[in-house]
Amino acid sequence: MFFKGFLVVQTLIILFYKIHPTTATPPILRAQAQLSNLPADDWQKYVRAPASTMISPVRIVSSYTTGDVKNPEGFLAGKGTTLIRRQAAAGNTTAAGKPILDIQPQIVVDFGQNTAGFLSIKFGGSSSFNSTPGLPGLRLAFSETLQYLTNVSDFSRSNNGDSITPGSDQVRDIAVKPEPYTWTDDHGCEYDQKKVCVDGLHGFRYMKIYMDALSVDAPYTTPYGSVTFNSISLNYSGYHGTPDTFSGWIQTSDDNLNQWWFDAVYTNDMCTDIFRINDTEPRGAASPTLLGKVVLHDGAKRDRDPYVGDVAVAGKTSYLSHNIPLAARNVLADLADHQRADGWIPPASILDYTLHLMDYPLWWVVCSYNHYMYTGDIGYMQQYYSNMVKVLDTYYTSITNPNTNLIQKGLGSSGGYGDYAFLDRTGSVTYYNALYVLALQHAASIAQSLGNHVSDATRWTDRANLVSQAIRDRLFDNSVGAFFDGTCGFEPCPVHAQDGNSISILSGVANSTQAQAALDYMSRVMARPYGNAFYDNDGVGQGLSQRVYAFISYFEIQSRFQVGSPASALEEIRRLYGWMATHDPQVTAWEGIGVNGSLYQGPYSSQAHGWATGIVPLLSNNVLGVTPTGPGFSTWSIKPIPGDVKWAKGVVPGPNGSIKVSWNRDADQGLFWLSVSAPQGSSGIISVPVESSTKQVYLNSQLVSDGHMTKSDASDSEGYMTLSVGGGDNTVTVGYSI
Ligand SMILES: *[C@@H]1O[C@H](CO)[C@@H](O)[C@H](O)[C@H]1NC(C)=O
Ligand SMILES: *[C@@H]1O[C@H](CO)[C@@H](O)[C@H](O)[C@H]1NC(C)=O
Ligand SMILES: *[C@@H]1O[C@H](CO)[C@@H](O)[C@H](O)[C@H]1NC(C)=O
Ligand SMILES: *[C@@H]1O[C@H](CO)[C@@H](O)[C@H](O)[C@H]1NC(C)=O
Ligand SMILES: *[C@@H]1O[C@H](CO)[C@@H](O)[C@H](O)[C@H]1NC(C)=O
Ligand SMILES: *[C@@H]1O[C@H](CO)[C@@H](O)[C@H](O)[C@H]1NC(C)=O
Ligand SMILES: *[C@@H]1O[C@H](CO)[C@@H](O)[C@H](O)[C@H]1NC(C)=O
Repeated sequence: MFFKGFLVVQTLIILFYKIHPTTATPPILRAQAQLSNLPADDWQKYVRAPASTMISPVRIVSSYTTGDVKNPEGFLAGKGTTLIRRQAAAGNTTAAGKPILDIQPQIVVDFGQNTAGFLSIKFGGSSSFNSTPGLPGLRLAFSETLQYLTNVSDFSRSNNGDSITPGSDQVRDIAVKPEPYTWTDDHGCEYDQKKVCVDGLHGFRYMKIYMDALSVDAPYTTPYGSVTFNSISLNYSGYHGTPDTFSGWIQTSDDNLNQWWFDAVYTNDMCTDIFRINDTEPRGAASPTLLGKVVLHDGAKRDRDPYVGDVAVAGKTSYLSHNIPLAARNVLADLADHQRADGWIPPASILDYTLHLMDYPLWWVVCSYNHYMYTGDIGYMQQYYSNMVKVLDTYYTSITNPNTNLIQKGLGSSGGYGDYAFLDRTGSVTYYNALYVLALQHAASIAQSLGNHVSDATRWTDRANLVSQAIRDRLFDNSVGAFFDGTCGFEPCPVHAQDGNSISILSGVANSTQAQAALDYMSRVMARPYGNAFYDNDGVGQGLSQRVYAFISYFEIQSRFQVGSPASALEEIRRLYGWMATHDPQVTAWEGIGVNGSLYQGPYSSQAHGWATGIVPLLSNNVLGVTPTGPGFSTWSIKPIPGDVKWAKGVVPGPNGSIKVSWNRDADQGLFWLSVSAPQGSSGIISVPVESSTKQVYLNSQLVSDGHMTKSDASDSEGYMTLSVGGGDNTVTVGYSI
């Protein structure tokens, strides 16, 4: 009787569900509609690219205007002409009868943000003074910051060995002509291959123009006379990343994060350019095999040479924003084509491919893996697979100490080799070894994926485990809870670096206790108002404990997301990118930050460096949450790690179509909602945060977990519920069972 009645009730409930499906909709699914109502896509407002590639200054920095200048505003578009004049006042001559000049006329223009390209001036005409030979000479000095704006450019090719200019660009006007004459800043000299010379391309925000003549330019220029300017403009050089060119983007509840993501993309765009002989790094970088190809230069004003370590970050920024895979591929392929017989791969074309860096061949492996995963470029991977074998099995084995299983600087050819920061480290350096583990793991994944290299995969995985064990056993400093940097003689030095600790965490070398201890140590000891320093003390070099590299900080911040500490990851992002966004030149990401947040190498510093754009992969991979797990996003993972971000949406491009993700949450109601649209034929896992085991999880309105029963395709780990899904559209909703 009891049983019978129960069954009747059950049947009635089922009928009720069938007849009245809407009344039966659980509250969580009703909340879905509310959560899916995100603000409209208006990320376009963050894009920094100029509307046109011909750019005009936006402002005259009037405190710098000196001398006889009429209408300096004429340098701004559509504001008339500008006249500058310099002469001796009547009768004002030296005892020898030479005129004493009036004060030097000078104007400083501001292009509003860092930019790169070739300047042009439209002259209305000029006249000399007292019919002296020569025409008025103008000198141009460019700078990324007002701090380093002087009478010479903050960086000139002459700083790196090109000898035609003294650091400024010399212009000689053409005497009054019927039509305005346009002068363009093309590298070279106007006379005798050594007089009236210009640098060519500049990366800058500010430009000073002043009337002056170099004695070496005589008799062609004089330091007086008058000149009329009709306009000045810059022909932007770099990838012109207007809103229509974005195949990937992100928008979140945090306006600063959004702006910094787009600022970083703009930085990388300035560095994405055709490799040209006259504006590449002058120190032997102008390789014929790169000429005419689109590449990722390391910086916009310098070095203008693609370095493979930089591509580890810049490449991801490129794939995730405009997806121009050729820019990274051209660099990686060219460097592999210059592999040395012992397996070492040069870091860049500089010094005709002979700059000795110890870590960059490992970055080449990591970048090749990234390239394969983000683009699915199997042709590249097959063509250069044997180069990877040689890097790992010939070069790095030749500098490994068989007694410790660790790479040891000083063995084989490695003695005088530097690294991304040109540090003089010695012995078994944690960073080199942890990066070796990461490269071996990535190489093993590639071997596995290509299918016919299973024995390589096994060998590399075994070696990665062996090196990991050696790092854990020999290089962890229990007294502070962080990995040592390297050794002094046979003993570890009491120095700890951000790079070795971060990459040990990323590669899984550090166990969970060590990882947490190392992250705590870095937060405690290395935090500066402008980011986290890359050393805890100055044991390896003066000032290193005050220096911040956004490049290597990327790996620390990624490891913070990876261990599930988004609050500390976002806090570090805000200190680092917040500093750069609020200090001259603003907008673009810097090569390095020095003591007190300064330009770490003075005027030589590059304030627009692709390797500093890690915020792009950090937010797209972790906050939006999209990462490739198979070549070309054939498989993928979507795992938002929100921290204090309330909602996010965006697109990640792939070769077979993009992955679109939106998520939103309601902390008060304990709800999380995520919607994914991925290419048909792909598959992946969706991981959603579940704060307690009493949560219900719905996949496409079907209950997959109520916190007690877990379906076989759903697993719960570390506060996340993970679901395996195919391509197409999927929606996941998490909430309390009500
Ligand atoms: C002559 O030129 C000098 C140097 O610019 C200046 O200081 C001085 O006032 C001028 N004298 C006259 C009479 O213009
Ligand atoms: C430019 O500035 C440098 C350094 O301040 C100085 O040595 C040099 O004389 C200046 N040159 C001119 C032409 O003013
Ligand atoms: C590079 O500059 C030189 C002068 O320094 C000039 O003769 C040559 O034409 C330029 N080459 C290109 C490709 O612009
Ligand atoms: C700007 O530079 C590009 C690339 O060098 C060139 O093709 C174009 O003609 C230039 N535009 C102007 C207006 O000089
Ligand atoms: C991590 O490694 C250290 C040193 O080998 C060891 O003492 C500790 O127990 C390990 N922790 C975990 C969680 O494995
Ligand atoms: C950095 O700032 C501190 C505090 O203002 C100051 O004492 C120190 O001299 C500065 N160091 C440098 C190198 O500017
Ligand atoms: C892209 O789609 C094609 C056709 O469906 C498929 O053969 C290929 O494997 C896919 N590539 C990736 C990287 O998913």
